[in-house]
Amino acid sequence: SVYYIKQRWKYEQRTILKDEVKTILRPFRLSDEQIRKVMANLNTEMSKGLKPSTDSDLKMFPTYVHSLPSGQEHGEYLVVDLGGSNFRVSHVNIETRKKIRLINKIFLIPHSLLLGYGDKLFDYIADCLQRFMIDNKLVSFENAKFPLAFTFSFPCQQDSLKQATLVNWTKGFSCTGVVGKDVVVMFQEAIDRRKGLNVEVVALVNDTVGTLMACHATYRDCRAGVILGTGTNACYVENLSNVQKWQGDRQNLKEVIINTEWGAFGASGSLDFIRTEIDRELDDSSLNPAQQKFEKMISALYLGEIVRLIIVDLVQRGLLFPGRMQKSPRIRPDYNIFLILRGSFYAKHVSDIESDKSEGLSLTSSILTGIGIHEPSFDDCKIIQEVCKTVSQRASSLAAAAIAVLINRLNVSSVTIAVDGTLFRHHDKFKKNLIRTIDRLVQRTFKFVIMDGLYIPDGRKLALIDRDWILDDLPH
Ligand code: GLC
Repeated sequence: SVYYIKQRWKYEQRTILKDEVKTILRPFRLSDEQIRKVMANLNTEMSKGLKPSTDSDLKMFPTYVHSLPSGQEHGEYLVVDLGGSNFRVSHVNIETRKKIRLINKIFLIPHSLLLGYGDKLFDYIADCLQRFMIDNKLVSFENAKFPLAFTFSFPCQQDSLKQATLVNWTKGFSCTGVVGKDVVVMFQEAIDRRKGLNVEVVALVNDTVGTLMACHATYRDCRAGVILGTGTNACYVENLSNVQKWQGDRQNLKEVIINTEWGAFGASGSLDFIRTEIDRELDDSSLNPAQQKFEKMISALYLGEIVRLIIVDLVQRGLLFPGRMQKSPRIRPDYNIFLILRGSFYAKHVSDIESDKSEGLSLTSSILTGIGIHEPSFDDCKIIQEVCKTVSQRASSLAAAAIAVLINRLNVSSVTIAVDGTLFRHHDKFKKNLIRTIDRLVQRTFKFVIMDGLYIPDGRKLALIDRDWILDDLPH
């Protein structure tokens, strides 16, 4: 009957569609063999990066941090944290390990500052710091300056704990007049320009180093810090004897924390065997073309954009929203802004759609409607969910490969890895696949710790869900 023929035709169309979508997504699915090749290449670049004056993708910066916290530290410090999804100012007073007072404030950075003059950025940070100190009545005693630790999460060549030359910007930052300069000096000068701001920057660390150190105070076998957030990077404890490029004192020192800057992996082509047309397109239109190729396949700043570019491709091939879009290389701008606007699909969308278990994928449908794609069909939602799953899985497998390399290099029977960042914190599927994949790739015992808690006297672990939480209110 006609009805039967119509149904059959619809079914066949769906199967063809599915096959075509599969073909497009195939390059994003990594085999174990490919993952192991990524590991081998990354390991080679890491070893090269430790040698003097070799050209390596990975900078492998010695950080001048030679020992890890024992948990017995105490004191009162200011902290400024710049480089992730938030810019944060904190005041921390550590009396004992169990008596810590922390005040945090997150400030927004106007987008224009990320792309403007560097001086303006540091002036803004110093202004926020001053406001924070006034609001919290933080005054230093006469002549004594408040010590401040600066978490600055960009590639820096360090010559001491408080000398750090910015090598290049990464993530969404691209201020002029900072690359090649000492950022500690720039920040200190901005502080000194403010009357009454009595603060001295005493140390600069990368966020990976901060993560490792925060964790080590409690987990003594922690030897690496990993960030899976806006960007991705890792640091680990290396024997000084393996760091051929170390020029300082060796006599009294055994180890140093190395900031790998693994986000830059791939610069000389060692990821080309898995990079796709979409990865190249994303890179070409980014703020930093040809840089941070590994990061661009993994981190939260880029995941949504990879998905968006695949969706645009599928629309142009007539595989998504069929019949509702013209099949032309240009998308009709009046259709919806999402499809033509770079950066309009976020990692959060990827994660929410990937884990959507609602009936008829109604959650996915409402997310898509929310960003301007009206009334997507069930098939559209299903395809977009598949895209999100594939892109997220590729990212977590690549992150797993990198962490596996780190675990192998540490060469101890059991190790704790400190992890932080929005991807790890909030993307459940990403985290699950990451841990499962590492488990397959390494023979050693490992454990992840995320420092989302502080121990309070009764031994309870307190989850710091809202980072603005003022711990002053808690019983000590
Ligand atoms: C980028 C930065 C790196 C930082 C990472 C995570 O890769 O270059 O320094 O650690 O993002 O924030």
